[in-house]
Amino acid sequence: MNTHAPTPDSSTPLDAFRLRLGKDELVPIVIGGMGVDISTTELALEAARLGGIGHLSDAMMPTVCDRRYGTHYVRSKLQRFKHNVHNLDKTVVQFDLDEIAAATRAHVAQAMERKRGTGMVFLNCMEKLTMNSPRETLRARLIAALDAGIDGITLAAGLHLGTLALIEAHPRFQDVKLGIIVSSLRALQIFLRKNAKSRRLPDYVVVEGPLAGGHLGFGADWAQYNLATIVAEIRAWLDAEKLAIPLIAAGGVFTGTDAVGMIAQGASAVQVATRFTVTHECGLPDEVKQHYFAAKEADIEVNTLSPTGYPMRMLKSSPCIGAGVHPNCEAYGYLLDGKGHCPYIDAWAREMEAHPEHRRPTVRDKTCLCTHMRNFDCWTCGQTTWRLKDTSHQNPDGSYQLLSAEHVFKDYQHSTEGRIALPEKAPAA
Ligand SMILES: Cc1cc2nc3c(=O)[nH]c(=O)nc-3n(C[C@H](O)[C@H](O)[C@H](O)COP(=O)(O)O)c2cc1C
Repeated sequence: MNTHAPTPDSSTPLDAFRLRLGKDELVPIVIGGMGVDISTTELALEAARLGGIGHLSDAMMPTVCDRRYGTHYVRSKLQRFKHNVHNLDKTVVQFDLDEIAAATRAHVAQAMERKRGTGMVFLNCMEKLTMNSPRETLRARLIAALDAGIDGITLAAGLHLGTLALIEAHPRFQDVKLGIIVSSLRALQIFLRKNAKSRRLPDYVVVEGPLAGGHLGFGADWAQYNLATIVAEIRAWLDAEKLAIPLIAAGGVFTGTDAVGMIAQGASAVQVATRFTVTHECGLPDEVKQHYFAAKEADIEVNTLSPTGYPMRMLKSSPCIGAGVHPNCEAYGYLLDGKGHCPYIDAWAREMEAHPEHRRPTVRDKTCLCTHMRNFDCWTCGQTTWRLKDTSHQNPDGSYQLLSAEHVFKDYQHSTEGRIALPEKAPAA
């Protein structure tokens, strides 16, 4: 914690504190990475303009480039492998590493060129995107992002035991900000031990608790864990080890006062996402944002549908649940492990065999995450999503008024006493 900062209590705004990363001082608000292109460039740039940190996501960059910049990466990969579409063995379906690198460079570079203000833009880099060749594709993504000038990289969705070694020869290795997301002290200890040879400590650690969106580092017993307790435990251990690494608390931080509560536990900043899912700048389609606004607490579940093997939180009404799309690995294939295998393919093949009369079976236990995240049909969300309706105005037709990222950011930054500032009411259409 900043030693000159006031005592954190409910009358203190988050803006009284600063996140120090080396010699940089930032507003202690980080907008978390949300794949696939849910945390857009526009969202990340707003966080940076306002003095905080925004994230791009490295999920499915070629697809994102096709949609945003008119490239044809997906079509050309499908062309290369269309002979394999009906084969359940996907070993041959390899990504072209040059294309991965080119897509990553293009997406990161356009964001860095447009960046204004004193904040930073980081990349959320997920190890679980194993892409049929885990080490090589991860290396290609990381190096391309470094080449394109990314300010920092947050290692996500995995323990990243060998990740630093993949980039330690890069000229920016010592300068770029590097952080890791963990959900327990044990995960952090293992990361530090396994990466000790790289002679470089992380610049920050994101501590993600059980209420976060996306994949979780907890099992079915997630409700028994508490973010504040984990933050305090990790802070105490780091202090005992004389490691002055700032902690960034994530998951369920809904107000500025919640954020100040995390500072009181030893965090130096918060990472937030759910409240930004209903902003104009968020990449979800507007009609999906309305589902997030309208959600009730009973509409949210943690399930095991993700082929990554991690539990994932989502709205029960997500169209991906039960959908039995033909696996699209020849076009996408981001979750193929190093042996051309994805648990969704097994589940889909089993249902096809059991119900040969159906062209499209119902697959209940797994989802084709690539296809559904790409199409915004997997509505992953944080546990506090049901509270979003309290953050805006309802229109006469029952829909909710979208917010600006600036409004939400400044509400986190300046609000006190658990209050949430409503936006100015939009004039009736
Ligand atoms: C829609 C959505 C998508 C997410 N996708 C990712 C992701 O791709 N990678 C990741 O590391 N975290 C992901 N997260 C987690 C966030 O980055 C963040 O750490 C967490 O949700 C913060 O908690 P909050 O949503 O309660 O504010 C996602 C969260 C949401 C809401």
